[in-house]
Amino acid sequence: MGISVGSLIFISYSDTLATDYPKSYTPMQTLMQIPVQKTSHSRLSQTDFKNLEFGKYIADHMFTATWNHGTWENSGIEPYAPISVSPAALGLHYGQTVFEGMKAYRMQNGDISIFRLERHSQRFNKSLERMSMAPVPLELFKESLLTLISLDSEWVPREEGSSLYIRPFCFASEERLGMKVSDEYKFMIINSPVGPYYAKPLKVKVEKHFVRAAEGGTGYAKCGGNYGGAFYPAAQAKKEGFDQIIWTHACGHETIEEAGTMNMMFVLDGKLITPPTSSSVLDGITRDSLLTLAGRLGIPQEVRPVTVSEIRDGLENGKLQEAFGAGTAAVVAPISHISIDDTLYEISGSQENAISLNLKKALTDIRTGKAEDFAGWNTILKA
Ligand code: COI
Repeated sequence: MGISVGSLIFISYSDTLATDYPKSYTPMQTLMQIPVQKTSHSRLSQTDFKNLEFGKYIADHMFTATWNHGTWENSGIEPYAPISVSPAALGLHYGQTVFEGMKAYRMQNGDISIFRLERHSQRFNKSLERMSMAPVPLELFKESLLTLISLDSEWVPREEGSSLYIRPFCFASEERLGMKVSDEYKFMIINSPVGPYYAKPLKVKVEKHFVRAAEGGTGYAKCGGNYGGAFYPAAQAKKEGFDQIIWTHACGHETIEEAGTMNMMFVLDGKLITPPTSSSVLDGITRDSLLTLAGRLGIPQEVRPVTVSEIRDGLENGKLQEAFGAGTAAVVAPISHISIDDTLYEISGSQENAISLNLKKALTDIRTGKAEDFAGWNTILKA
C-alpha cells in the first residue's frame, strides 16, 4: 500500500490542515492500514527503565516506507532489526540523510502524549526540501508514528523525567555512484526510552575558531552532516574539559548561534534572551515552546542577536543570571560555566526560582497532563 504524492514537490502544511486531524486516538485506531508484523521476542524485560542512558535501548518495532520514483510504497511495521542497504546507496556517499527528534510522555492518567507532532512533521519536510529529498506527507508521518507507538506503548516510560524519544529519519537509498539526487529513499521510525540527556549542569566553551554552519547553508536543517561536522570541534573542546560548544556566527564570531544539540537561552538582567532562528540556526521546537510559556508566565523576553561581548559583560558584572540549552533531547539543560577567549566564568545565580526551572516545569506539566494543554501541543494516545 502506498501514498502517491506526485513528483518531488515540497508540500507545506498549514496550521489549519494540522488542526483538522483528531487530537486523540485509541490504540490502533488509524486512518491508514499499515501492515504490522509483531515481534515474538520482546526486549522490554531486558530494559533497565531505572537507568535509561540516552539512546542505549531501542523499542521492539520499527516503521519503514520506500519512496520509489514519486510514490511512498511498501510501508510497514516489523520487529526492530538491522536493515540491508547497498554499499552504493547515495545517502552513504553524498549525505542525503535527515532526521527528527520528538518525544512521547506518559501522562498522569496513563495515556500517552506526543509533543507537537505536526510542527515536527513540518520541520522534517523543511529539512528534506533543503536536502532535495522526497517529502513525507503529514498523513504518512502521523499514521506511521501513532501506529508504531501504540504497538510499542509499553516502551513509554513511567519513571519521572523519562520519555520515549522518537527518531523519524530518511536517507537516500538508490544504488548509484554518480553524484545525483536520489530517486529512492527510505523513511523509517525507531524509538528509544530515555532519561535525561545531560546528567549535570554543563561547562561550555564559546567557539571562535570552528564553524557549525553559515548563512545560506544547511544549518537550519536536521541533516546528518550538521552533526557529523561538529564531532571534531566537540572532541577538541572535550580534551580541554568542556561538555559542549556554543557556536558563534561564521562571519566574525561576534554573536551566539546555538549549541548543536540545543538552542541557547540566557537570563540577562531579569530578561529571557535568545538569538533569532536563521538559515544557520535550527528552528527549535522546545525553544519555541519555552518562549510561548515565558510569555504566559509574564517573563520579559527578547528574541534578538545576542553578542558574545554582552554575555562576557554579564558574566563579569553578575547580570547574567542563567544560561541554558533548549532542545528535544536536552529539554532544558542548565549551564554552570562558560569559557570565552580562554577565561572561564562560573554562573553563580541561585537555582531556586530559576526561570529555566520554572519553564521546564511548565512544559513538563503540559506534556504529562498536569496542566492544561492550552496551545493544543499534545496528540493523545489513549491507554
Ligand atoms: C534532539 O534534541 O532531538 C536532537 O536532535 C539532538 C541530538 C540528540 C542529536
